[in-house]
Amino acid sequence: MTERLDKILSRQLNITRARAKEVLRSGRVAVNDVTQQDGSTKCGDADAISVDGKLITVARYVYIMMNKPAGVISASDGKGEKTVVDLVPDNMQRRGLFPAGRLDRDTTGFVLITDDGEFAHNILSPVHHIPKTYIATLDKPVDDGMIADFEGGMTLNGRVLLEAGLEPVSHDGTVARVVLRQGLYHQVKRMFAKHGATVLQLHRTAMGGLELDDGLLPGECRYITADEIGQITKKFDSI
Ligand code: URA
Repeated sequence: MTERLDKILSRQLNITRARAKEVLRSGRVAVNDVTQQDGSTKCGDADAISVDGKLITVARYVYIMMNKPAGVISASDGKGEKTVVDLVPDNMQRRGLFPAGRLDRDTTGFVLITDDGEFAHNILSPVHHIPKTYIATLDKPVDDGMIADFEGGMTLNGRVLLEAGLEPVSHDGTVARVVLRQGLYHQVKRMFAKHGATVLQLHRTAMGGLELDDGLLPGECRYITADEIGQITKKFDSI
């Protein structure tokens, strides 16, 4: 696929199309080592585009994995409050970034930030059955009744939920792995609350088959590779 050079510059440098034209006119842009001033020039993946001698990426969309810290909101516009998009460093910023799905302010862990609306829709839609894995720390141990209710498809406020996974991972049963294939408001907290348990901490560890990179400190992020995108979306028939 090819695109106009001014459009690519505007997106990759997070500048307006008019500003991109100015940058082009000033002779700072080269395509395959030849100075290019015409914004209508068509460029594709195979072209090396540089500004002031520095190569820029041409990828149409980006996919970023962030280890969300507590205290920031999962939105692109926090109306004055700090968002996960604000935490993306300047050299990875671009227009149209948003988090694919919401974690509560106090929930930590894997947030996927992208500018690809169709991809975000696909991984969030319950019809695609892409599991999201959480580690929940509770004020009381998981019991067999909870496990049966999670796994059987519990009824919450009159709504029958999709089957979910629940498995204690600590000796005393107060830390548990939860696997959901849908993302209702405060879903994990509400599922435990139905059983009289309070979630003290919630951390998302995986989306589909892709685990949160344990090298990312809270607030840090990195690009997700094309191969890893495949790990998120590979088919899950059971959980
Ligand atoms: N369920 C919750 O209760 N909170 C989250 O942030 C995610 C899932």
